Amino acid sequence: MLIAGNWKMNLKYEDIIKLKNIISDLEVDRRVEIAIFPQFPLLYSAIEKLSDYKIEVGAQACSSVLKGAFTGDVSVEIISDIGCKYCIVGHSERREYHHETNQFVKNASNLLLSKNIIPIVCVGESLEVKNKRETNQFIKSQIRECIPENITSNIVVAYEPIWAIGTGKIPEYEEISSVHKIIMNELSHIKNLKVIYGGSVNKENCSKIFELNEVHGALIGGASLKFKDFLAIYESAVKQII
Ligand code: PGA
Repeated sequence: MLIAGNWKMNLKYEDIIKLKNIISDLEVDRRVEIAIFPQFPLLYSAIEKLSDYKIEVGAQACSSVLKGAFTGDVSVEIISDIGCKYCIVGHSERREYHHETNQFVKNASNLLLSKNIIPIVCVGESLEVKNKRETNQFIKSQIRECIPENITSNIVVAYEPIWAIGTGKIPEYEEISSVHKIIMNELSHIKNLKVIYGGSVNKENCSKIFELNEVHGALIGGASLKFKDFLAIYESAVKQII
């Protein structure tokens, strides 16, 4: 399982130190990996401070090209050089505010894999698509358009319904299972595929989500900013696999 904390544009250097102090007494169960995704300028310090505690660090986004005149963008080369294991690609906020398309996600995923970084590819339907009962078809085409055809291992897909992000609402548990099954069927050729759920995961609803066989972890926004809650979610994942 993978418990990933997407800090978005929140928290500071001092919070990395706080997290380090909190987790120094935690016994990390290797079967459940913890990863955090701070803002770019904090990545290096996070890796330096947290690697002894078996917490992985990843980037929230990346460019879809390796280098050039792209002011403000960040290359996967740098993300790889500093030692990130993961990078989130195609988060719905990037799709909305930075116009990242499915083709962008595919190109970026290819680049990440070429630099040995595991992409966490986000997919998920809007409320409009959900209300039209077109979720399954929508997710299938997102998967086909976002995941490079030649990939055979090392990718994480995060199913994040857009209407569930930051709203406190989550799909019915059966709906989560059924969308995860669709993703797993579409990508059955990929070894070690993880399909994680994201969107309003909290310490109250996580254990029911982790009970679902098709859920291999969570991408957590709001609740990852409160470290006690984040670690409670991690412990709930550990309980699930024991
Ligand atoms: P949330 O965000 O947990 O605050 O809903 C999840 C995400 O955007 O990845």
